[in-house]
Amino acid sequence: MLKRCVLALAVIAVSAGSALAQPRIEKAPIPRTNASEPKQMFDSYCAVCHGKEAKGNGPAATALAKVPADLTRISARNGGKFPDVRVRRYIEGLDEVAAHGSRDMPMWGRLFNDLDRDTAQIRIAALAEYLKGLQQP
Ligand code: HEC
Repeated sequence: MLKRCVLALAVIAVSAGSALAQPRIEKAPIPRTNASEPKQMFDSYCAVCHGKEAKGNGPAATALAKVPADLTRISARNGGKFPDVRVRRYIEGLDEVAAHGSRDMPMWGRLFNDLDRDTAQIRIAALAEYLKGLQQP
């Protein structure tokens, strides 16, 4: 039996017609992407908050309680070393839920699992590797 699951992600909806309209966060099904295409995944899932350049200034940023992190300076904030394991766990989202119960950033581990159980960990690892390649001094 095929089980149909609706996947939800916070996405942006800017009211048409006014440049001054406040962005609104809405839930929408997450698009299917190729697990071996990290840029496609980043643009589809992360850029709405973190921005296409990963600088933390995506269109949804102003609607969040917390400013999305500048993902090009993770190493810079960690004494020049990219914390692979911590980044992967952060994207997956399990640590934070246990610690604080909620956060602005979606828990991608669960969403990717719903999308395709076999590639969830591959997606997380590929995204962490992609971010590693974006690091600036
Ligand atoms: C709904 C908005 C939103 C989306 C979508 C989102 N993030 Fe985030 N992200 C945030 C916010 C807000 C923070 C900062 C949270 C905090 O400081 O508690 C953050 C923080 C992070 C961090 C931690 C950075 C650090 O220096 O510790 C990483 C890594 C990250 N995001 C990666 C991603 C990836 C990869 C995706 C896409 C799969 C993604 N994010 C999608 C909002 C988002």
